Amino acid sequence: MLYSDKVMDHFTNPRNVGILEDPDGVGEVGNPTCGDMMKITIDVADDKISDIKFQTLGCGAAIATSSMVTEMAKGMDIHDAVQISKKQVADELDGLPAPKMHCSVLATDGLKVAIDDYLVKQGREPIAGEIKSSDPTFDPHEDEDIELDDE
Ligand code: FES
Repeated sequence: MLYSDKVMDHFTNPRNVGILEDPDGVGEVGNPTCGDMMKITIDVADDKISDIKFQTLGCGAAIATSSMVTEMAKGMDIHDAVQISKKQVADELDGLPAPKMHCSVLATDGLKVAIDDYLVKQGREPIAGEIKSSDPTFDPHEDEDIELDDE
């Protein structure tokens, strides 16, 4: 299985690792396929993600995608950050091997849960919609053919 230089860089030198103290939003998700887990914490100012950190107990691709999603989301409006897709994260990493595409769901779902957690704590409506990784019937491989066709 071949990983891009960017994946290897984010795996061996992950950015924004850790947990924020007294964060505005917390997202914890698990991948039903492999049992890997991710926790993401965010601080928000004027609806922009002012700080973000993650902890991932998972494979190399899960760590690299978690690291990348924190870089992408930092400074972004929450309404834009909630739209980040696993395909966008994989593209930013110059691609992921097809069997590892499902790993990037952890990172994008963790961010979505953290954003909704922030909004609900503020008494506002959640915006993330369905969180795929928390659905036990979710098949993380269901759209991998589409991802492959796009490469
Ligand atoms: Fe579990 Fe990658 S194998 S997230």
